[in-house]
Amino acid sequence: MKKFYIETFGCQMNAHDSEKVIVTLVGEGYSQVPTVDEADLVLYNTCSIRDKAEQKVYARIQDFKRRKDKIVGVLGCVAQQEGEKIFERAPHVSLVAGSASYNLLPQMLVQIEAGNRRVTGLSLDTEDTFEVPYTKRDNPHKAFLTIIEGCSKSCAYCVVPMTRGPERSRTSASVLTEARQLVEDGYSEITLLGQNVNSYLDPSETRLDFAMLLRRIGKIDGLKRVRFTTSHPRDFVKEIVDAVDENPVLCNHIHLPVQSGSTDVLNRMQRLYTRDEYMRRIEWMKNARREITITSDIIVGFPGETEEDFEQTLRLLDEVQYDAIFSFKYSQRPNTPALQYADHLSEEEKSRRLTIVQEHQRQIQIPRNAAYIGRVQEVMVDGYNKATQQWLGKSSQHKTIGFSHSAMPGPTADGATLEGSYLDVRVTRSGPNSLAGEAVV
Ligand code: 5AD
Ligand code: SF4
Repeated sequence: MKKFYIETFGCQMNAHDSEKVIVTLVGEGYSQVPTVDEADLVLYNTCSIRDKAEQKVYARIQDFKRRKDKIVGVLGCVAQQEGEKIFERAPHVSLVAGSASYNLLPQMLVQIEAGNRRVTGLSLDTEDTFEVPYTKRDNPHKAFLTIIEGCSKSCAYCVVPMTRGPERSRTSASVLTEARQLVEDGYSEITLLGQNVNSYLDPSETRLDFAMLLRRIGKIDGLKRVRFTTSHPRDFVKEIVDAVDENPVLCNHIHLPVQSGSTDVLNRMQRLYTRDEYMRRIEWMKNARREITITSDIIVGFPGETEEDFEQTLRLLDEVQYDAIFSFKYSQRPNTPALQYADHLSEEEKSRRLTIVQEHQRQIQIPRNAAYIGRVQEVMVDGYNKATQQWLGKSSQHKTIGFSHSAMPGPTADGATLEGSYLDVRVTRSGPNSLAGEAVV
């Protein structure tokens, strides 16, 4: 039996791609092993969103320089971005393939087995999506489900359109069949995935758009929670908020990355919306009957970002009152338009702004979370944290909640656990990033 080991870097899209790559390899007669030592084939599914992520990948690949007994493959975004250059920088690598070529993995494996040590899958010229026979997910209760691959936007800082190729939607029939199958197999939460889920458009005759697809998935019997990520503000329509408002199965949390609070910076980022247009979308969510939590991504120190631009981002955080943000220093990426822009900021200035943004947001989150004290939230249990002796889970709003349970203080010796169950928890304490409480029993 041929054995492979796979390690995944980066986003949820990559995590789910790896799940699909695993089924593909198993279909070709390989078996997965948990350590590099046991493997004949070592695969890295890589991320290149920022320079730091890419450097981490190279460091890992270099670890294997002297392991002549292993075949090393690089998949994902670094593979697509660097292409054959990887063979020069890491001559012990034999396979380089981007996500738009995963359908060709079986052929590539045949070449590897035939002794070819320079096998590539780098074409972005595809209309296909990567669909595999039904696959078990890494988590027994929560499943990722791809609805759209690639990205056809052209944000000036972003490498993704070049690493994942153009936008391709799956048919709604195939998405719905997979979703039903997941529920039959006991999954109760599904996260719909895409670089830009709200650009979804069914390529078959039904022409379902994202809001319509959401409504259909939300009606599947037995499904408890549906999440989706990521949304792009440009294509984010009110029907999406209406769908969430009408069906409690659709989680009341929306991740809508703004990147900057300055219209001038947004223009130069080629984000295709203004600050006011973004704020209109926020109003839709704030005016919903359900209480929708909102999260975002922020880039600080984009080329030419003035102190005034930066201030506008801080003011936007005040206005929106996000429940959480992911914030990043602008990082130069190969072949992106922003590389050519004037006025790149120093690393020190970017770090200074990052610290300010993070502290500013922290001060917003402390009172927001404190307002939950005394309220009861339904939590889906992810597991037990031995260190804090608490169960841990997430609310529909995607808040992390740690809690005690009087009847079941922890997992029992015979394997009984609360993992995967849905419980009401009364919130008694809060911090900037999480809530804590007691199960209502
Ligand atoms: N530099 C810094 N952050 C970036 N992101 C994407 N590209 C870059 C870059 N070049 C951030 C954006 C995006 C998130 C996934 O990563 O905020 O929403
Ligand atoms: Fe990283 Fe983006 Fe590729 Fe995901 S799509 S792995 S975030 S570069």
